[in-house]
Amino acid sequence: MIKSIQLIAVLALLALPLTATAEGVHRPDQNPGTPEQVAAGKTSFAMCAGCHGAEGEGLVGVGPRLNSTNYLAAAPNSFFEQTIKTGRAGTNMIAWGPALGDETVANLVAYIRSWQTAAGETLDEAPLKGSLEIGTAKWVDICSRCHGRSGAGYSEAGSGTGIGRSAFLDVASNGFLRAVITRGKDNTAMRPFSADSPVSVADLTPEEVDSIIQYLRANAW
Ligand code: HEC
Ligand code: HEC
Repeated sequence: MIKSIQLIAVLALLALPLTATAEGVHRPDQNPGTPEQVAAGKTSFAMCAGCHGAEGEGLVGVGPRLNSTNYLAAAPNSFFEQTIKTGRAGTNMIAWGPALGDETVANLVAYIRSWQTAAGETLDEAPLKGSLEIGTAKWVDICSRCHGRSGAGYSEAGSGTGIGRSAFLDVASNGFLRAVITRGKDNTAMRPFSADSPVSVADLTPEEVDSIIQYLRANAW
């Protein structure tokens, strides 16, 4: 009973319209889709489950987890839609758009969205602060260990995804990147990098986080 009340509250929050402010802080579009879309998406997800797990739990080195609560709370639908359509060139995530078509892709997004259990985050899309110099140092010292020196991810023996690739960076906004780096991706090796978190691996200031994003954008390939 309590659970269903919480779910209704979450869905109500998800349905809030985009609210943009001058600072570039906004709530991403996380429209949950219809129950029919979720059901159809679940059926189609059989094509994806071999790499991402039947419930989106992921398989390290094979396919990333898609059902992390805080990651779903930060990712807009467009992140999933574009990734499924255009894939991640150079990885095992192929472009599914041509084979599946828009309707099936939308159903898959609705199914992925159905795993969300927390209200949507607001994303801060304000211009990046910090410096390339700091970003480069932090990348080499911390992030490259799991994402690969050039950010290729799995193909560079990383446990993390290929976040240095343009195919990823083109669909990941600064606000989404800020949220994931600061709060991590729960139930994965991607821990929060923030002094606010008791389980942080390394405490990064907002400026250091921005600097790393600058580094990624400057070196996207
Ligand atoms: C052969 C394995 C494989 C299959 C099948 C597959 N994927 Fe992927 N998928 C991957 C890999 C590998 C990545 C991450 C690549 C990278 O960026 O390093 C990925 C990334 C993604 C991402 C982005 C996740 C993130 O946070 O970066 C989404 C969304 C996704 N896949 C959805 C799907 C859907 C939906 C299907 C089925 C239509 C599917 N995938 C089928 C391997 C697969
Ligand atoms: C201990 C290993 C580890 C370290 C260190 C690490 N990551 Fe990750 N990161 C991961 C893993 C593993 C994932 C993906 C988890 C999954 O879904 O399978 C990930 C996911 C991510 C994502 C989401 C990517 C996507 O495809 O959705 C971003 C962004 C990210 N990391 C940025 C960083 C940055 C920036 C740093 C350095 C401050 C960093 N990571 C350090 C392991 C790590």
